[in-house]
Amino acid sequence: MMSHRRHPVTGAGLGLRRALLGPLQAYDTETVDATIDFMEVAPENWINVGGQRRASFRYFTERYPFICHGLSLSIGGPSPLDQTFIRKLRQFMDHYRIRTYSEHLSYCTDDGHLYDLMPIPFTEEAVKYVAGRIHQVQDMLGQRMAIENVSYYAAPGAELTEIDFINAVINEADCDLLLDVNNIFVNSVNHRYDPLEFLAALPAERISYGHIAGHYNEAEDLIVDTHGADIIGDVWDLLDKAYELFGVFPTLLERDFNIPPVVDLLTEVQKIRDIQAKWSQHERSKKDHATHDHTDEKRRRA
Ligand SMILES: [Fe+2]
Repeated sequence: MMSHRRHPVTGAGLGLRRALLGPLQAYDTETVDATIDFMEVAPENWINVGGQRRASFRYFTERYPFICHGLSLSIGGPSPLDQTFIRKLRQFMDHYRIRTYSEHLSYCTDDGHLYDLMPIPFTEEAVKYVAGRIHQVQDMLGQRMAIENVSYYAAPGAELTEIDFINAVINEADCDLLLDVNNIFVNSVNHRYDPLEFLAALPAERISYGHIAGHYNEAEDLIVDTHGADIIGDVWDLLDKAYELFGVFPTLLERDFNIPPVVDLLTEVQKIRDIQAKWSQHERSKKDHATHDHTDEKRRRA
């Protein structure tokens, strides 16, 4: 099934980190522009910055379409939604013409460690609770948001499977999906399920965009989603499969730690582009065939 929804951006992108501002600006602009179609940032890291850093940020927002990927909304958490933050987020998005906003389908621990994302219990009750909160955010932002399938290491009190939980939330909240192929792979190893089956059960028409990242192998049967390593072959294969199933959707490289030289990042972004080009070409030739068949049919009838 093909997605007919318009994606917020197109092509291949990169998660912009503070550590990348200098190196990216110093790198050959033509190459960067030819490789990167869009960027994504965590709004929490940029909303309050001023001075030189703000100027650098503007340099990028003027060059590339942007997406916001939040860290602190705590969509499944027990505390009330931070309305001040959501209002600021809307201003920030308007100001920099940021196309869309996404968040993790999980919640932050209360001790303020933003990267410590906790799983939401996979229950019907949690579906209603989380979907209600997503509705609230979408109302305040005046647009749909996307939620990301996350990696998790334990699922206490689960009544639903992960895939049923995700699909139920998306349905109930009427929101979009940020499809992270690395997280599917990580979970499929840690929770012993078939990543392809999981992928195929996701709602094609709700895919807003995708993430791909590297991870760390803690042990053979436990891998940790760190965004700090190169992408492995299995994860590339999963992206390839996702395009085959759903058609090409915009996808970006997430790299948070052990950030390599720009040239290496661009090589990975280029690889996303190559896989996208392969499937776009495939879709085009399929369409051409369909048109030819149609023309032949008409001729035969005439
Ligand atoms: Fe991700």
